[in-house]
Amino acid sequence: MAEITENDVMDALREVIDPSQGKSVVDLNMVTAIQIAQTNISFALEVPAHRGPAMEPVRKAAESAVRAIPGVTSATVVVTAHAAAPGAAQDEEEDGTRQQVHDIKIRRFVAVAAGKGGVGKSTTAVNLAIALRLEGLRVGLLDADVYGPSLPRMLGISGRPAAAGGDMVRPLENYGVQLMSMGLLVPDDTAMIWRGPMVQSALTQMLDAVAWGTLDVIVIDLPPGTGDIQISLAQQVNLAGAVVVSTPQDIALLDVVKAITMFEKANVPVLGMIQNMAYWACPDCGRQDHIFGDGGVSAEAEKRGIELLGEIPLSIDVRTGSDSGTPIVVASPRSEQAKTYRKMARRLMEVADLRREEDE
Ligand SMILES: Nc1ncnc2c1ncn2[C@@H]1O[C@H](COP(=O)(O)OP(=O)(O)OP(=O)(O)O)[C@@H](O)[C@H]1O
Ligand SMILES: [Mg+2]
Repeated sequence: MAEITENDVMDALREVIDPSQGKSVVDLNMVTAIQIAQTNISFALEVPAHRGPAMEPVRKAAESAVRAIPGVTSATVVVTAHAAAPGAAQDEEEDGTRQQVHDIKIRRFVAVAAGKGGVGKSTTAVNLAIALRLEGLRVGLLDADVYGPSLPRMLGISGRPAAAGGDMVRPLENYGVQLMSMGLLVPDDTAMIWRGPMVQSALTQMLDAVAWGTLDVIVIDLPPGTGDIQISLAQQVNLAGAVVVSTPQDIALLDVVKAITMFEKANVPVLGMIQNMAYWACPDCGRQDHIFGDGGVSAEAEKRGIELLGEIPLSIDVRTGSDSGTPIVVASPRSEQAKTYRKMARRLMEVADLRREEDE
């Protein structure tokens, strides 16, 4: 077996992106102190002190990338802190002051919806939110699914939001995306029984009592279904529009028609449909199997004059990424799926008029 070199390690790390800056850890000069002891590799990622806690997913991604080099048996990565550059410290201070007065400016809200549970709505919301962030937007993610909040896990966030003065709390951040979710406020193992008015007030609180700061867009992961909650939330925040996720199964499609009708009634534009788990691509032979049927979503979209934003196949990497807190857009930025999410995000920016508005 050929000896592992520092170049091999750097090449592997070029795939590891720090999503808050949209560049690889190599391009950002974060990689230091590479040590190669035969097949055991260790190195450090050097970041400004205040970013330390948010770097954990990048650290893990760097570890896996290096462990995947043929011949490597172990990889150990530590995050080390250096003092922030004077400019950065000042920015933070300014941010702090802005947050103290709770100046919340959110330019647009976009909902991700589905008529039915388990079709990949949260996975889509998380990957699209990060993809929008990678396009340079300031992005928030609101987990409106109070019954089964899954976004903290998918975004690799745990812990409690910090108080921000008054009755406000701060959102938590990872991959440059701000998150608020009932999952951050209630312990994982607590079964919550929610009744309609409680859900409503929980959602209102997550919008009004969170120091979101200035954001170009908040992506809302709506709970599955087509009930009152969805409609009133849609009206409460004046949605720019909704993206509807469906699998190709007929049943999911029937539900999707209900979801589209609901948005039409509430005067919320449906910005596009996304077909998730569209087909299974055999990793060995490349053959595509349309396990749940073929073309149903695109036919439905065409019939209703709704754009099909894209199709994501059934993919183990999509599943492990979202279940382990490193969504595929960050875990394998060069994969076809990551490219599709990024393309869908760029199209969404056009159809929902999402752009970065400089602070006045
Ligand atoms: N394209 C895909 N390929 C493989 N697995 C996927 C894909 N999309 C989502 N999954 C997996 O399917 C499961 C359900 O996805 P997800 O939680 O995103 O759906 P959901 O619509 O938000 O569900 P719920 O209605 O429970 O909120 C998760 O384990 C997720 O990792
Ligand atoms: Mg979900």
